Amino acid sequence: MTSIQRITESDLDEWTVLWRDYIVFYESEVPDEVSRDTFRRIVADEELHGAIARDDDGRATGIVHWLTHPGTWSRADYCYLEDLFVAPTSRGAGAGRALIAHVRDWAAARGLDKVYWLTQEGNATARALYDSVATHTGFTHYEISL
Ligand SMILES: CC(C)(COP(=O)(O)OP(=O)(O)OC[C@H]1O[C@@H](n2cnc3c(N)ncnc32)[C@H](O)[C@@H]1OP(=O)(O)O)[C@@H](O)C(=O)NCCC(=O)NCCS
Repeated sequence: MTSIQRITESDLDEWTVLWRDYIVFYESEVPDEVSRDTFRRIVADEELHGAIARDDDGRATGIVHWLTHPGTWSRADYCYLEDLFVAPTSRGAGAGRALIAHVRDWAAARGLDKVYWLTQEGNATARALYDSVATHTGFTHYEISL
């Protein structure tokens, strides 16, 4: 059974392992000082929010991070789920589904308009989960790096 809690200061070591593996999954790099600041902002629980999943033995198995922002199509804010990761050895046990449900419940409790997120088209594993809990909008993502 997966339990989900808000990320707090004492989660730093386990969060760091999961965060680093998530960045490796995306074959990317984030400077250590940025990671440290990201964790600090998540723990502050103001502009960034985060939750950690634990298994029956209390081991951290996954993380999710999200933020909110205003929108033009609704008076209520939107909730953007930015990062979702479950450790490879813990996958398929419902942690990913539970982490998304946690964000959905958090946003619903605050009267937000919607929860949304992006994924890579070819991420079949993640999309199998997403197709069962959300609507695929068909939008294509563009960005300009600055
Ligand atoms: C995507 C991810 C978060 C899913 O986490 P998870 O804990 O394994 O997911 P769950 O156990 O909650 O699985 C929920 C559903 O996803 C699907 N699913 C999960 N793993 C799957 C797999 N290996 N193959 C096919 N479907 C899979 C199933 O439909 C499953 O439903 P079921 O348990 O009723 O059969 C995890 O695979 C992960 O961290 N991947 C690497 C990082 C990533 O892709 N993050 C998302 C970025 S947008």
